Order: sequence, then structure tokens, then C-alpha cells
Amino acid sequence: MQYASKITGIGSHFPQRVMTNQDLARELAAKGIETNDEWIVERTGIRERRISEPGNPKETNSSLALVAATRALEMAGKTVDDIDQILFATCSPDSLVPTSACWLQTKLGAKRAWALDINAACSGFVYGLAIADTFIRTGQVKTSLVIGSEVLNPMVNWDDRGSCILFGDGSGAAIVERTEAANPRRILSTHLHTDGSLWEVLYVPAGGSARPLTAELIEQKANTMHMKGKEIFKVAVKTLTDFAVTALETNGLTIKDLDWFVPHQANLRIIEAVAKRLDFPMDKVLVNIDRHGNTSAATVPTALDEAVRAGKVKPGQTVLMDVFGAGLTYGAVLARW
Ligand code: UT7
Repeated sequence: MQYASKITGIGSHFPQRVMTNQDLARELAAKGIETNDEWIVERTGIRERRISEPGNPKETNSSLALVAATRALEMAGKTVDDIDQILFATCSPDSLVPTSACWLQTKLGAKRAWALDINAACSGFVYGLAIADTFIRTGQVKTSLVIGSEVLNPMVNWDDRGSCILFGDGSGAAIVERTEAANPRRILSTHLHTDGSLWEVLYVPAGGSARPLTAELIEQKANTMHMKGKEIFKVAVKTLTDFAVTALETNGLTIKDLDWFVPHQANLRIIEAVAKRLDFPMDKVLVNIDRHGNTSAATVPTALDEAVRAGKVKPGQTVLMDVFGAGLTYGAVLARW
């Protein structure tokens, strides 16, 4: 028997607190840093984002994922006992040891599942889908829970107006199940690539084993994200476009065959530039950056969840997920819903 995999359920969840651009501008102004709603909207498309409350047990990364996963299971008509594998994509885990996947496994009570974290930064959810698809196609796994979830708040430098305006917290989940290879409604292809030589455009200088934290490093904000926005912008537009073309061509399809484009939500101008290069209409691009900012590994599953629940994405339609992230990491998944 030849197998394929299929996304059968999707879910999302966000922390309670909404931080509007005006709220953020007020908080920065109190520290003598100038920004405003108009600049943020014009340069990024972001109007507000959700921020987890530090210390609130309901708003840790794995707790947000618990709600998203429960919603995805409900949609798929599955229970926790059906889950064979949990792949938790995040660069902001609850703790390094144990992983967020382990925390989620025990919170869910998914006793049969083995669980691990994947860190491919913003590309993590797509990497997770590709790994789940491979395990399912080789017959080793029947049902996989793939999470893309972040609590980036503690990793954001809230004194850097060039980056803190971008990020938000949130969680998305997908149930990926075994199906027959002949099923037209399946994951059609997955495409992954990494270029570690571009590490410097987005990185956290300290806090890992190579550079353990000291009081001095924390004072210098070396435990927060350092970003070269303009450089990432250019690479992102090129790679998102290239991966979209590769994914379609691999399947003998053209852009006209695509129903929905789900790009990583890092900046609305990046998304618009890619749609223009692909000659793809913006009204078929799933966008939630205006309300959530860049939630890293959570952008694609949360945008997809909203569109599926709104009845936009319909059975049999062709959906392209296309991402880039720190590393740099890139990836795409083409699926027939
Ligand atoms: O998951 C992926 C990670 N990151 C990304 O994908 C980031 C991709 N890059 C971007 O989204 C954009 O480069 C940014 C939104 C980060 C910045 O936009 P930009 O159009 O590249 O602006 P810039 O950095 O060139 O700054 C333009 C001006 C500068 O002032 P001067 O030098 O022209 O006087 C900045 O100092 O805007 C100023 N500026 C701000 N002004 C008000 C930078 N940040 C702000 C701000 N509010 N928040």
C-alpha cells in the first residue's frame, strides 16, 4: 500500500492581551523612543498584535498550543489517543529541557505519542509538515500533530523600534493523517532549504551554550533578537517567489491553478511584492499580519485556520504554504485541501 498525507484538522489560539500600534507607541514614548501607527501600518501592514502575559500558566507556549491542538483534533474528528507523533515547531520553547512538545504531550494526555521540538524559526511549521508527511508516507506514523507556536515576547528587544513593532505571540496546530497515495486531496509536495551562512541577518547573540548569559549580556540585550530588516526583506521576496514557482512546477501546475497562497506573515509589503512577481491576486492571499504581526512559526497555521473556519478554503482547492525564517531557512508545502 502506498501512502500519502493529508491535513484533516486545523486550529489556532492567541493570548488575551491586544497591543495596538498606539499602545506600543505610548510604551516606547515613555522610554523616549518615537514611533507611530501611521509608520508601522505603512511600512509593515501591522495594526495590532497579541502579547502573552509573562507568568500566566494559560499563556505559556505549550498552553496556547494545547487550545490550538484541541481545536484541530475536534475538526479532524480525532482524540488524543489517535496521535502517534507530536512535532512542535518553535524558537521560543517553554523551556529548553524538557521540550515544548513534552509539555504539550502531558497537557494533552497524548500518552501514545512520541514528541519533539523543531527549531527552524519562522519556517518551523512548514518543516514540521514536511517531516510529518515523510513519516506518514513511509508508513511509520498514521496521525501526526504538527504545531507552529511562539511566545516571542521575552526575545523581543522592546527598546529597538526597528524590530519590536513586528512580533506577536500565538499558536497554530494541524492534524496530518495517512491517506491513500491516489487520494487527490493530499500534500502534493514539500520543499525545504537552508542557508546557514546568512545567520547574521536575524539572530539572538547570547543565551545558548556557545555564549551563556551573564548579567552584563542581559544588560546589553544580547538575549534578544538582532535583525537586519532590509537584508531579510530582499532575500524573503526572492526566496518566497522562487519556492512558489518550484512547488508549482514540481506538480506540473501554474499560478493559475492555485486557489490560495499562504505566505509567512513578516511584512505586508513582502507579501504584496511576492504576489506581484507571481502575478497572483491579493484577494487570494491569506493575510492575518494586520491583527497578529509576525508570530514566526505560527503565522501559516493561524492564517490557514482562520480561512478554513471562515469557509474560504474549500475541499479540493489547491493551497500553497511558503515561508522563510532565521537561519536562514526556507520552505514550501503544496497541498490539495
Ligand atoms: O520573520 C522574519 C523576520 N523579519 C523580517 O522579515 C523583516 C523584514 N524587514 C522589514 O520588515 C522592514 O525592513 C522593517 C519593517 C523592519 C523596516 O522597514 P524599512 O522600510 O526597511 O525601514 P528602514 O529600516 O529602512 O527605516 C527607514 C526609516 C529610518 O529613518 P531614516 O534613517 O530614514 O531617518 C528608521 O530609523 O524609518 C525609521 N524607523 C522608524 N520610524 C518610526 C525604523 N523603525 C521605525 C519605527 N517608527 N518603528
